[in-house]
Amino acid sequence: MTRHFLRDDDLTPEEQTRVLDLADEMKRDRFSYRPLAGPRTVALLFDKPSTRTRLSFSVGVADLGGNPLVLDSGSTQMGRGEPIEDTARVLERQVAAVVWRTFAQTDLENLARHINVPVVNALTDEFHPCQVLADLQTVREHKGTLAGLTLAYLGDGANNMSHSYLLGCAIAGMHVRIGAPEGYHPDPVILTRANEIAESTGGSVTVTADAHKAAEGADVVATDTWVSMGMEDAKEDREAPFRPYTVDEALMAAAHPEAIVLHCLPAYRGKEITAGVVDGPQSVVWDEAENRRHAQKALLAYLLESSDNPEPETR
Ligand code: CP
Ligand code: NVA
Repeated sequence: MTRHFLRDDDLTPEEQTRVLDLADEMKRDRFSYRPLAGPRTVALLFDKPSTRTRLSFSVGVADLGGNPLVLDSGSTQMGRGEPIEDTARVLERQVAAVVWRTFAQTDLENLARHINVPVVNALTDEFHPCQVLADLQTVREHKGTLAGLTLAYLGDGANNMSHSYLLGCAIAGMHVRIGAPEGYHPDPVILTRANEIAESTGGSVTVTADAHKAAEGADVVATDTWVSMGMEDAKEDREAPFRPYTVDEALMAAAHPEAIVLHCLPAYRGKEITAGVVDGPQSVVWDEAENRRHAQKALLAYLLESSDNPEPETR
């Protein structure tokens, strides 16, 4: 069986913990694991811009002994409409794994259905699970634990970060609160799934339009841009409804006094977060950005180890 990571709940709670433990180990000893020695190649495909994901996967694959091959899909035949199924058959004979940042989650799922090497979601419109793995590693580092902690996410409740926090934090046994304007609440199907997971892990899920209520007593406060990639046309319309959800000093005063602040970055100071908060003492965003590499290295190592692929030496 080939293991993929297309959404946060592709890892069980036990597997999520194993990956986070491995990420900590890799952070302590950078070159300790060489599952891609050869070097074997990992294809990193981008349909959208990226700084952190591109960097952290490129450096991380090299750390694992492998060769990162970054491709902008626009410069491949994918950009000219070559079917995903055909691309899958070409890719699987060359590379050990595929990491893809794209628009539709269904396209990523389609690739995974037709390929026999691990596929990793490097962000879709619906989920950003690698980011949330790094976020969980960061929370554990600063708070010592995950289960039982409350994470409040303020902003676009219907975007990829919100959906990944819902699933990823529920798997970790956390209490997830989404504070978002009416009309921008999470996808009800994902919400149902998060509730189902939380029931089995001791976590919980809350969605509210009251920003203050969402943040009250939270151990972790997180936010993200109000205008995700691909939504640029809606930028003006979003300003007014999202304004009350800015993570500013007043909102932070409602959170736990020792709360930490997460932002996947890039941050738009004066929009979803103030400069005082993102650059202030409670912010751990640079640790979070660094942890992308450690968490993704651990994830790749785990997926490769737990996949049963024929003839890996050819990739
Ligand atoms: N957080 C994140 O995914 O950043 P990039 O868009 O720069 O990769
Ligand atoms: N929600 C943002 C995340 C950027 C890393 C986007 O999709 O653009």
